[in-house]
Amino acid sequence: MAKSVVSGLDRILTLELVRVTERAAVAAARLRGRGDEKAADQVAVDAMRSELNRLPIKGTVVIGEGERDEAPMLYIGEEVGAGGGPEVDIALDPLEGTTICAKNLPNALAVISIAEKGTLLYAPDVYMEKIAVGPGYREGVVDLDLSAAENIANLAKAKGVPVHEITTCILDRPRHAALIEEVRATGAAIRLIGDGDVAGVIHTTDPEETGIDIYLGTGGAPEGVLAASALRCTGGQMQGRLILDTEEKIARAARMGVSDPKRKYRERDMARGDVLFAATGVTDGNLLSGVKFGKTTIQTHTIVMRSSSGTVREIKARHQDMDKF
Ligand code: FBP
Repeated sequence: MAKSVVSGLDRILTLELVRVTERAAVAAARLRGRGDEKAADQVAVDAMRSELNRLPIKGTVVIGEGERDEAPMLYIGEEVGAGGGPEVDIALDPLEGTTICAKNLPNALAVISIAEKGTLLYAPDVYMEKIAVGPGYREGVVDLDLSAAENIANLAKAKGVPVHEITTCILDRPRHAALIEEVRATGAAIRLIGDGDVAGVIHTTDPEETGIDIYLGTGGAPEGVLAASALRCTGGQMQGRLILDTEEKIARAARMGVSDPKRKYRERDMARGDVLFAATGVTDGNLLSGVKFGKTTIQTHTIVMRSSSGTVREIKARHQDMDKF
């Protein structure tokens, strides 16, 4: 592969990115369990943006808080970074799981991925059909075009376990009623999550730790690109298809460069180049602990990784400078 545009800086940027998600996570965590999703999201956005603007990059937000007219900060197309560094695409969600943060439930995260310019899928804010499994399986072990029952059977065979030892992760939504029924009929278990399918997908990459083998169902397309970025680093397979069920959505996607509305994207189609990914826990979760506020320190837990090396680092930080946050 040609030398990456970010390769000159990515080893440094990997660690710099941690600060970005840490800041957002701490800000959001202060509003955990207050029932105010908007306020928690807003503080996370502010914190992420100000930290992002210190990074030595010339970044463009491609997955962000929304269109320019609806999101004053971190909108799609906003240029961020201190400049002077590589030109990069940025996908971010300062608070992934606004409702779970507001309710203080597991797996709210602050997430970001940075990639070579022009290599992230510019996904419109529509739903995406998704399937994901962790690393170690042959290419194509699961496929969006097969039924859930077929995918679960294929995965069980590849894992060498009976189907009832497979655990799926599905968003608890009325639109998934038929899917849930189909999965239950196979005998596989379901972890129903209230929100947060970026975490849901990432959980498939470490089934021993999380207990989740496969992610199924529809969630946000922007979240799909973030999850695909993570899987590019950890290994694992993901497929996604935009749900463009109206002319307006097809036209909106086309304006963002989607020429085939039925295209099935693999993780490497959604995040094509070198990519760096970081997530900090806001609330406690299966892979990451939430922010802990002590008397004199604040503790954060972050996972940060890069696709070019496949290195996954977990960083538990104790921050003394409480005023900074
Ligand atoms: P927010 O952080 O924007 O609230 O998104 C949470 C989330 O659960 C995502 O993880 C998921 O992709 C999406 O919402 C699902 O959308 P919906 O709630 O409409 O089913």
